[in-house]
Amino acid sequence: MDAFEPPASAEKLYEGKAKILYTTDDPEILLTYFKDDATAFNAQKRGTIAGKGEVNCAMSQHLFRLLEGQGVPTHLVDCPTADTMRVRRVSIVPLEVVVRNIAAGSLCQQTGLELGTPLDPPLVEFYFKNDALGDPLLTDDRLRVMGLATPDQVHQLREMALRINQVLSDFFDQCGITLVDFKLEFGVDDSGRLLLADEISPDTCRLWNQAETDPNRRVMDKDRFRRDLGDVEAAYQQVLQRVLAQSF
Ligand code: TMP
Ligand code: ASP
Repeated sequence: MDAFEPPASAEKLYEGKAKILYTTDDPEILLTYFKDDATAFNAQKRGTIAGKGEVNCAMSQHLFRLLEGQGVPTHLVDCPTADTMRVRRVSIVPLEVVVRNIAAGSLCQQTGLELGTPLDPPLVEFYFKNDALGDPLLTDDRLRVMGLATPDQVHQLREMALRINQVLSDFFDQCGITLVDFKLEFGVDDSGRLLLADEISPDTCRLWNQAETDPNRRVMDKDRFRRDLGDVEAAYQQVLQRVLAQSF
């Protein structure tokens, strides 16, 4: 059970599987609390990863600052405590944007591509953010028909996702980690500008330790939880240590 107590004036706006969103005294700013709760396979598997909230919050803060410095706007304001982040209020685009550098996960399951196949240029995929429908993969035509984002926004999302991939891939490489794939979410602010939102963490990335060749031992991300590989907490802490040690 999470022991987080929000400020008395805060109103809970939304509770997701890994985070809770609260109002603050400033209508333009929201407070995100990062939970230790872990789910997988659309919440069919549930558990807790001790310390995960703090890891995901601190890692997201570091990587958002890195990206801001490279010209990618994000929703980050600051982190008042180790497991909370103040963010700009945006309207979330109901799409999960996945970038893949190496074949893994659902790509292998759905296409038969062998795990570890390099993807150059990287794949950019759009999924409908809808738990009831199981976050289905969308085609370009489905994206257009559903009107979840304008064609111009879809173009911008793709360009931003590829730019973020360049910055993050280089950064993780310097940490001795291969960025296999990851998921991004974006929001639109009052002026219509797209901002990177949500989090970037071992929950939302596949990260392989370059010092390990064994396909299970190298896994440093939520696949350790999804696939019962053990040592989940230690892997999250190891990723955070390496990320925080890498200045920019
Ligand atoms: P996938 O191979 O299962 O489609 O996952 C691709 C990437 O997206 C992987 O890095 C994990 C991340 N991801 C999420 O962040 N949330 C999700 O709900 C899913 C299914 C994947
Ligand atoms: N976060 C997603 C869920 O619970 C899936 C995943 O990350 O594997 O369902």
